[in-house]
Amino acid sequence: MNVNFYEKLWMWFAAAIIVVFITFVGITTFAYGVRPPSHIETVDPTQVMSDPRFAQQGVTPNPDGSVTATMVAGTFFWLPSPVTVPAATPVHFRLTSMDVTHGFEIVGTNVNTMVVPGYVSQLTYTFPAPGEYLIVCNEYCGTGHHTMGGKIVVEARP
Ligand code: CUA
Repeated sequence: MNVNFYEKLWMWFAAAIIVVFITFVGITTFAYGVRPPSHIETVDPTQVMSDPRFAQQGVTPNPDGSVTATMVAGTFFWLPSPVTVPAATPVHFRLTSMDVTHGFEIVGTNVNTMVVPGYVSQLTYTFPAPGEYLIVCNEYCGTGHHTMGGKIVVEARP
């Protein structure tokens, strides 16, 4: 089969683009830990505060030394706030919304997920050092959207 030189060139070029894209997906996934923050876990958004998974918000320790931070978003607040977590410890955030879609972003980190009513958003982050971090809502959720902030206090590990 005779393939024209320029056609061959474009075929190699198209193949090279695919290889470059897959390489970057691999780098961001494995080197930077960028991955979808959720798993498919649903919750009745009208019953969030009485759901056993979310009735008690806050930070609880896990047997493996990590902690779980359970949080609920509402117009226009984060429950609880502030959240106090230990440094150099994996923090498993579990979030849901009691009303509309919010955005959970911890300024200065790569933590950023949508918080969608009806679903549980889950992600893990390890704060390297003690300090205070700002939580902002980055999905427009109503007239008080710009006031919807929260705080995370990272304390030295006891
Ligand atoms: Cu919540 Cu914007």
